Amino acid sequence: MKNDTITVLGFAGSLRKGSYNKALLSAALEMVPEGASLQVFDLDGIPPFNQDQENQPPEKVKEFKTKIRAADAILIATPEYNYSVPGVLKNAIDWASRPYGDNPFEGKPVALMGASIGMLGTARAQYHLRQTFVFLNMLPLNKPEVMVPFAQDKVDKTGRLTDDKTREKIGELLKSLVVWARKLRSA
Ligand SMILES: Cc1cc2nc3c(=O)[nH]c(=O)nc-3n(C[C@H](O)[C@H](O)[C@H](O)COP(=O)(O)O)c2cc1C
Repeated sequence: MKNDTITVLGFAGSLRKGSYNKALLSAALEMVPEGASLQVFDLDGIPPFNQDQENQPPEKVKEFKTKIRAADAILIATPEYNYSVPGVLKNAIDWASRPYGDNPFEGKPVALMGASIGMLGTARAQYHLRQTFVFLNMLPLNKPEVMVPFAQDKVDKTGRLTDDKTREKIGELLKSLVVWARKLRSA
């Protein structure tokens, strides 16, 4: 039997060095609940998806899929681009989901958070992403919803999330994800 620790794989849908969404993940690393672990995966280096290559994916995609498969739960930090999911994130998910029948996301609990400079804090992107979870047969945590508006005022120049309320929310999200993953494990 697998040990009792809940392993979480986190990734952000931004390649930007000063990414606010990467900052959310960095904050999450400081708030991992007891009995859980969090590893962050950088999507940088995943090329545009080409279905001609889905049976011979690049090494970076193979690595991504192995890590997804090994994790008990997934944590995604998504930016919002043009009211939706950034291409970088959707592209990585599309790669991982192929070829058909080899979907490592199948049955995985997943939690979402997101930061934007706008006033809705990635709400629209998050709901679009939840639609993708339906086909992937992921099991999303409904609440808390972590939507961080005006992120430019909440992350300092070193990439540290300085807003206490947001940090608290991320802590709650992680705790809830771990409880959710344990429930599903014992179901
Ligand atoms: C192509 C593009 C589209 C964007 N569209 C939105 C949007 O629809 N809503 C929003 O709140 N911010 C939007 N933004 C601003 C992002 O919130 C901002 O760039 C944010 O810093 C991206 O996340 P990151 O810091 O993790 O890279 C957009 C930015 C880009 C580059």
